[in-house]
Amino acid sequence: MPSKEDATTTGMVRDLRSQGFAIADTAVDADLLAELSSEADRLIGRFDAGYRSADYWNFDRDEGREQVLYRIHRLEQQGSELIRRLFTAGPWHEVAERAAGRPVRSTVCAMIVKRAGGSAEVPWHRDRTSVPPHTLYNLSIFLDDSDTGNGCLEFVPASHLLADDASVDQVRQAGPVQPVPARAGELLVHDVRMVHGSAPNNSPRRRRSIVVEFAPEGFSLSPEES
Ligand code: NI
Repeated sequence: MPSKEDATTTGMVRDLRSQGFAIADTAVDADLLAELSSEADRLIGRFDAGYRSADYWNFDRDEGREQVLYRIHRLEQQGSELIRRLFTAGPWHEVAERAAGRPVRSTVCAMIVKRAGGSAEVPWHRDRTSVPPHTLYNLSIFLDDSDTGNGCLEFVPASHLLADDASVDQVRQAGPVQPVPARAGELLVHDVRMVHGSAPNNSPRRRRSIVVEFAPEGFSLSPEES
């Protein structure tokens, strides 16, 4: 008889291979989640205090009267010791390693910020198509509960198996589109080839997540954005 943990692990890996996404079988513990959440607030707070950088992606609203932050790119380089440490060797490396079935390294890290009461959608896309399926994974670490009300991730299941040049719009229209809610602290793993996006957040609840991409050790990557 396999242990319970083995059975769960197999479930996550099986889902990743067949569907292209899965909620991981381990979550971020409460203390670390609280630390990450306040660190996220500190980094977002810099923007509110007037800090601007090419890595703080924002859009204009109300004819430029307001700038809305939606992504902090290259998060591991934003001067947070906690984030840098976790990027190098966080508890989710082990999850990514089991997902990929081989040793991995983290490649890029970003924070997705959907502020309460009006935040844009993330347009439908694939993170990368120049790599084979079952090779690179993105881990989303949810700092807040995420559901259809505040713009959770949505996927077209099994779309990681489609051709590199499949039309994202056509795949989305053909569907099915599956929203994947996640609780704060949960890790959502997805193949970088997945067709995915997320809706605007018009709710009074914020929705922050940190996404880390993992590649197999020794795998050489093009500088494509994810
Ligand atoms: Ni993406």
